[in-house]
Amino acid sequence: MAYNMIKTERVGANNAVVLVTLNRPKALNALCDELMDEVGIAVTEADKNPEVGAIVITGNDKAFAAGADIKQMKDKSFPEVINGNFLSSWTQLTTTRKPIIAAVNGYALGGGCELAMMCDIIYAGDNAKFGQPEILLGTIPGAGGTQRLVRAIGKSKAMEICLTGDQINAEIALQSGLVAKVHPKEENLNEAIKLADKIASLSKPVVAMCKEAISASYELTLNEGNRLERKLFHSTFALEDRKEGMDAFAAKRKAVFKDC
Ligand code: CAA
Repeated sequence: MAYNMIKTERVGANNAVVLVTLNRPKALNALCDELMDEVGIAVTEADKNPEVGAIVITGNDKAFAAGADIKQMKDKSFPEVINGNFLSSWTQLTTTRKPIIAAVNGYALGGGCELAMMCDIIYAGDNAKFGQPEILLGTIPGAGGTQRLVRAIGKSKAMEICLTGDQINAEIALQSGLVAKVHPKEENLNEAIKLADKIASLSKPVVAMCKEAISASYELTLNEGNRLERKLFHSTFALEDRKEGMDAFAAKRKAVFKDC
């Protein structure tokens, strides 16, 4: 499919990773509807493709994304946003079963920070800046900022960020648990691809089950979550890949997974 606002390519040692690059550099990758629709289509296609094991979403050195497109949004009326359920389609990528890694360099603000948080793992370049500046525009986050940020870094820090619009740098984001690792900005995308490649080399159904269990911890009580985890753990015993993984360990050889 031809895209206007993003680029997609297959990367990694076995071409098993889909790299989605947000491509509106002049507008610092401001997230307009067309761009987010294209991201939704690209990740859904990657999710369905049996050759693909993981997805990386990135921007450019200056901006991962500087938020929802303020110019597109500024004249919207209340009936328009409520009747059109504005932003509701943005969460398409959270239904993906394959892991998504955000490689963030530069600004990840507003919807850009929210997009990164919709991904499963964030790797940050050392020039990354995260923030939810909506309050400075007279509005509040609308694509999960008030919810995912609290779960990622706790209520007090999330309140501080959302109520002031202040940005945090990569080091603070790392200390707070918002991002998994920080790299020099030149190496960040490559490190994200290496991580995606490593995940893509593992059993796809088992990776999907592991992601499902961890994602469910956002929604479930500890008891319910542990029950779901145990059921998924038991389910891995229906897979040849589970047998192969354990046989390979016992035989001191590398496991060869077949995704079944
Ligand atoms: N929407 C639309 N256009 C944007 C944009 C956005 N969110 N962010 C940047 N741009 C555009 C600028 O208007 C500018 O365009 P022109 O060249 O046509 O003037 C271009 O990108 C470059 O931006 P700047 O000149 O402002 O670049 P800078 O280096 O001086 O500043 C910045 C960078 C601090 C990120 C600044 O651009 C900025 O503050 N952007 C807005 C950030 C923001 O408020 N994001 C939240 C949006 S609301 C939201 O996301 C709601 C939600 O929950 C989904």
